[in-house]
Amino acid sequence: MLIHISSIAFLLTSLLIPISYSSNINITDVDLLEFPLNLEYLEAEFFLFGATGHGLDVVAPELAQGGPPPIGAKMALLDTFTRDVIFQFALQEVGHIRAIKSTVKGFPRPLLNISKESFAQVMNNAFEKPLYPTFDPYANSINYLLASYIIPYVGLTGYVGAIPELQESTSKKLVASLLAVESGQDAVIRTLLYERRKLKVLPYPITVEEFTNRISMLRNKLGNKGVKDEGLEVPISQGAEGKVSGNVLAGDKNSLSYSRTPEEILRIVYGRYEIVPGGFFPKGADGRIAKCLVATSIG
Ligand SMILES: *[C@@H]1O[C@H](CO)[C@@H](O)[C@H](O)[C@H]1NC(C)=O
Ligand SMILES: *[C@@H]1O[C@H](CO)[C@@H](O)[C@H](O)[C@H]1NC(C)=O
Repeated sequence: MLIHISSIAFLLTSLLIPISYSSNINITDVDLLEFPLNLEYLEAEFFLFGATGHGLDVVAPELAQGGPPPIGAKMALLDTFTRDVIFQFALQEVGHIRAIKSTVKGFPRPLLNISKESFAQVMNNAFEKPLYPTFDPYANSINYLLASYIIPYVGLTGYVGAIPELQESTSKKLVASLLAVESGQDAVIRTLLYERRKLKVLPYPITVEEFTNRISMLRNKLGNKGVKDEGLEVPISQGAEGKVSGNVLAGDKNSLSYSRTPEEILRIVYGRYEIVPGGFFPKGADGRIAKCLVATSIG
């Protein structure tokens, strides 16, 4: 019993100590290229299942490399147009995984929780109260696009953050090329939502715009490094050149992209601390950066 209590105390203490892996390991290009593989797996499985009802195990099993199948993945009830777009995104992600894994060794697909409950949890956190009925990302096109709003943007900001840290020009070329397509996906998702921004996300009395604003605010809170995320409507002072409230693309005061570090990204996808796996990655993200953060906290 005593051991039990002290290990809880240890866990709590370790949560309160800010952890920095940079003092403990030297981050290499390989680490920086492997880290986003986690997000590419997440996107690939969410988009593949959403559009077709099956994932990498059917489409490109060699890329899953025997990693466990995602929890709760399913086909979404999408209109023909949305399904077509999402299917294209899905295949693009397959290419991204192949491109990363043919440059660095990488790792097998990590365990992913892309269940309806996992997305519902994000939405409940975004609104700081449970939504009734429970949010279901797979129920229709608008819900699926809102769930999609959660993902590529996080990868995009990570790529922007990684480029200045890279040494080799081949690594920079790969990341720039991944970034371009990832930001294209984010722009398409945002545009499709922007067109419908004043509509209510039935049965909730909440507009599309407010959903995006809340999700972005949640990511800012979890990232804990100021404003790096903006919904589809912002105060005019935050819009492009301080002149518009419509915000089809997110950007800083000069409309340059925000960047995020791996720690910020892990806090967002785990749902709280970068050292405590959870959220979309119940057993944590793989690769040296993510593993070192967890290991540092217990070692
Ligand atoms: C990190 O790199 C620096 C400079 O190359 C070196 O002095 C240091 O020992 C390295 N640290 C680790 C933990 O490998
Ligand atoms: C998946 O996420 C939901 C919501 O957070 C959670 O209730 C469920 O236990 C998770 N499943 C696994 C296997 O981690």
